[in-house]
Amino acid sequence: LVRIFSGIQPTGRKHLGNYIGAIQHYVAGQDAGESIYCVVDLHATTVPYDPRELRERLYDTAAILIAAGLDPERCILFRQSDVQEHSELSWLLSSVTAWGDLNRMHQFKEKSAAQRDLVSASLFTYPVLMAADVLAYRATTVPVGDDQRQHVELMRDIAERFNARYGEILVVPDGQFPEVGARIMDLQDPARKMSTTGGSVEGTVYVLDEPKAIEKKLKRAVTDSGTEIRAGADKPGVTNLLDILAAARGTTVAEAQASMADARGYGDLKAATAEAVIALLDPVRTRYEELRTDEDRLEAVLAAGADKARAIAADTLADVRRVMGVGPAR
Ligand code: TYM
Repeated sequence: LVRIFSGIQPTGRKHLGNYIGAIQHYVAGQDAGESIYCVVDLHATTVPYDPRELRERLYDTAAILIAAGLDPERCILFRQSDVQEHSELSWLLSSVTAWGDLNRMHQFKEKSAAQRDLVSASLFTYPVLMAADVLAYRATTVPVGDDQRQHVELMRDIAERFNARYGEILVVPDGQFPEVGARIMDLQDPARKMSTTGGSVEGTVYVLDEPKAIEKKLKRAVTDSGTEIRAGADKPGVTNLLDILAAARGTTVAEAQASMADARGYGDLKAATAEAVIALLDPVRTRYEELRTDEDRLEAVLAAGADKARAIAADTLADVRRVMGVGPAR
């Protein structure tokens, strides 16, 4: 039995990396097994944020996911904070999490270095909550982009240590990383991944960008010396464009490269990529605009999703509490 779980932060504006590396695969997951998707508002509180904006961004993100093709009848879509079991499990799992492992997390190092003010304890324990998200559902499969590899490794370690200590209660999940587009790079700096924080606005294509903006950003994408259109370590800019082209069309990178065999130069590659990305994102933006206006409906969808999610998570928590000796005997 395949049970898919993934989470996405409701921070900032969702970008092409999120879409290609994750959201597309959430949609496909609906046909692959039981699938559960969570907008992780608790994770968004680990760095400075504006509370009112958090709620807005949460609706934005939920609407983007539905617009992309998540069907609340075919998957469970919910808001993390609506299912309090995540928080409790996070605390309980922190007792089988090595401090040294958390201290090795690249994402903590990067994000803590970027803080001007407080480096919160929750930024440090972020991966434990992420482990709780997945393990609460005994999920088998976690579709994520390449930047989450270390976090997935850690949640596997946590599940294994828990099971070794308390018995086989939790499922050790597998990460599922896309073959194409697992790491989309910033168009202005192909050495850096496309991201909500840290990247450049010109180098980041947002899911909700208008076609004109997408075209402009791709036209100005940084490329490499030479004129040959091929993927390779010596051509990070061109490789990124081919990766985007392939992922947007749903082909392999080799196929994308072959399709450019008659191109006259990088300009043609940029134009083809812009066209493919617009074809991918334009319908999403249109549907988003309809969905986003009805917050009551979004709220109802999330609440119904949370009810279904809670039923599964509560069952896991009852087992975890029992084997850990927490609470009354049942
Ligand atoms: P978040 O919200 O930063 O990103 C959501 C998803 O998008 C992927 N992604 C990318 N893929 C390809 N290229 C890129 N440039 C790129 N940037 C982001 C991410 O890998 C991710 O899959 N910690 C998670 C959220 C989370 C989670 C979970 C995920 C919380 N709990 C449980 C899985 C399971 C995060 O910050 O994703």
